[in-house]
Amino acid sequence: MEIIIQPTLEAATAIAARLVAALLREKPRAVLGLATGSTPLLLYRELVQMKLNWRRATTFNLDEYVSLAPDHPASYHSFMRENLFRHVNLRAKNIHIPDGRARDIPALCERYEKEIHKAGGIDLQLLGIGSDGHIGFNEPSSSLASRTRMKTLTERTLRDNARFFGGAARSPHHVITMGIGTIMEARHCLLLAFGSKKARAIAGAVEGPVTAMNPASVLQLHPRATLFLDEAAAARLKMKRYYRWVFENKPAWQKF
Ligand code: PGA
Repeated sequence: MEIIIQPTLEAATAIAARLVAALLREKPRAVLGLATGSTPLLLYRELVQMKLNWRRATTFNLDEYVSLAPDHPASYHSFMRENLFRHVNLRAKNIHIPDGRARDIPALCERYEKEIHKAGGIDLQLLGIGSDGHIGFNEPSSSLASRTRMKTLTERTLRDNARFFGGAARSPHHVITMGIGTIMEARHCLLLAFGSKKARAIAGAVEGPVTAMNPASVLQLHPRATLFLDEAAAARLKMKRYYRWVFENKPAWQKF
């Protein structure tokens, strides 16, 4: 794991944006795994401002709420349209987000996995982290080998996301999410975490045991996982000084 701690979310996001931009320039046909939520908002804004060429790129989103229509303002279809897709030249046929209204959810999940495979696999997977350690919507106790499937959200996640629905009671309890096994097949995982609410989950993910009780801890087993943190999210890391030292002494030739 490479742990990059920056003073602010703006500074961390700026480096992450450069990394995504470099991939799109080096590999115009890149396959990107995309995340939603508050965390990547600034990243998407920066990527839009960079005026990159997305024409040949392909995207797969991590998750979507079951039952929400794509035009529901809290759906991840809407989130992506508003924050990225309508501002860049991605082709509609290359955009993939699970359809929360699918009648046959297991069939949809199987198809989603096949589409990722057919696209050549994900080059770079963007991830946020839940305050309970979830990645995608793989809540604690999710199998570390899981594939795309339906999951039930924890009460904590419902509370965390209540702001998008005008209250936890109005939020869908079920979601479709890429599995942890699916995420682990991405060639590079890039996780962003900002704010003190994420500090405990980050400490467990980076310095705790690999456990389904903190799904992000599985990234310890990934050959190429980069974590971008602000000071608040890094606050509970015991080896903070070492991670900073590594980053400051990173040779210029070494890629992320
Ligand atoms: P957030 O959510 O970016 O809104 O904090 C992160 C997540 O649940 O993965």
